[in-house]
Amino acid sequence: MADTNDAGLRAFFSKDHSRLDSIFNKCRKNGYSNSIDLLKEFATGLIQHIIWEEEYLFPVFEQVTGMTQEGPTVIMRQEHHTIQELLYDLLTLAEKGDVDPTLPAALEGILLQHNQAEESVLYEAVDSMVTPESQTELINLLNSSAPIDLQKWLAGVEEVPEVIQEETHDDDCETCHIENKKEDSPISFH
Ligand SMILES: [Fe+2]
Ligand SMILES: [Fe+2]
Repeated sequence: MADTNDAGLRAFFSKDHSRLDSIFNKCRKNGYSNSIDLLKEFATGLIQHIIWEEEYLFPVFEQVTGMTQEGPTVIMRQEHHTIQELLYDLLTLAEKGDVDPTLPAALEGILLQHNQAEESVLYEAVDSMVTPESQTELINLLNSSAPIDLQKWLAGVEEVPEVIQEETHDDDCETCHIENKKEDSPISFH
């Protein structure tokens, strides 16, 4: 009897954490300003990962538990803001060849504890809430997502953020412009 689903959402998102960690580690070893293409690959993947969580994964937990005003997803969304702010600063400074080492260290630190919290609490909870069939269907949907346009994301950060729909978002957060599409997802609950 398997109490973990290797093909499920927890495994899918955890593997994506590992994939992104390994790209970020390569950037650190090579020097961020010498790794712009790799850093962009990391940023694109991380933004995509956050969008998947906020649009598809967290709403499952919130719908089942009713915890929309407080609880783990509220904290995770707030941390996504901080992660995106640090990511934006790192990308822009790396392109100028002017990265203060405290910046990537801060990003690495928050990602470490953020990812651990997701893997040990949220992903596990969502795995138990969604049927295996729906998990497979959702993963197929995520895998067929259109790629993120990093330049558009960077440009959006400099604009007045026009798509702030989450109640927990700060009005002055420059990087909180993930579009909240709220499409119907194929999820069915246990
Ligand atoms: Fe996250
Ligand atoms: Fe995550």
